[in-house]
Amino acid sequence: MPSIYEAIKEDHARHRALLEKIDGTEGDSPERKEAWEAFYADVKSHSAAEEETFYSKLMSKTWGQDAARHSVHEHEQMDEIMEELRETDMSSPGWIQRFRVLKHDYEHHMEEEEDEVFTRAQEVIGAEQNEAFGEKFLERKAKEGTLIEEKRADALED
Ligand SMILES: [Fe+2]
Ligand SMILES: [Fe+2]
Repeated sequence: MPSIYEAIKEDHARHRALLEKIDGTEGDSPERKEAWEAFYADVKSHSAAEEETFYSKLMSKTWGQDAARHSVHEHEQMDEIMEELRETDMSSPGWIQRFRVLKHDYEHHMEEEEDEVFTRAQEVIGAEQNEAFGEKFLERKAKEGTLIEEKRADALED
C-alpha cells in the first residue's frame, strides 16, 4: 500500500504527463479528446479525495488551516476553468489558450502541495498513519470517480 504522499505524487506525475500531452495536440483531434477526458476525470476525483482525506485532516489543526484553505480554494478555481473548457469547442483558439492557463496554475498547485503542504502534513499525520491515509485516499478517489457525472448533473440542475 502506498503512503498518502506516494499516492498523491503518483497521480501528479500522471497529471503532469497528460498536461504535456494535451498541450502537444491539435484542434478537436481524438488524441486531445482522449487525453483531456482522462485528465478531467482523474483530476476531479484526485482533488475530491485530497479534500476529504488529506485536507480535512490538516484543517483539524489550527496551524494547518490556512495552507489547507488556500489549496482547496485553488481546487475551486481550477474546477471553474475545467468546466469552462468542457463547454468550449476544442477546435477554437480560445480552448488551448485557456487550457494553458489551467496548465500553469495546476503545475504550480502540485509543486506547492509536494513542498509546503506535505511538510506541514507530516506534522499532523504521524508516520505510522501514512499507509492508512494512502488507503483512504485511494478508496475515496475510486468512489469519487463514479460520482463525478452525477454531481455534475446535479450542479447543472441548480
Ligand atoms: Fe490538490
Ligand atoms: Fe494534488
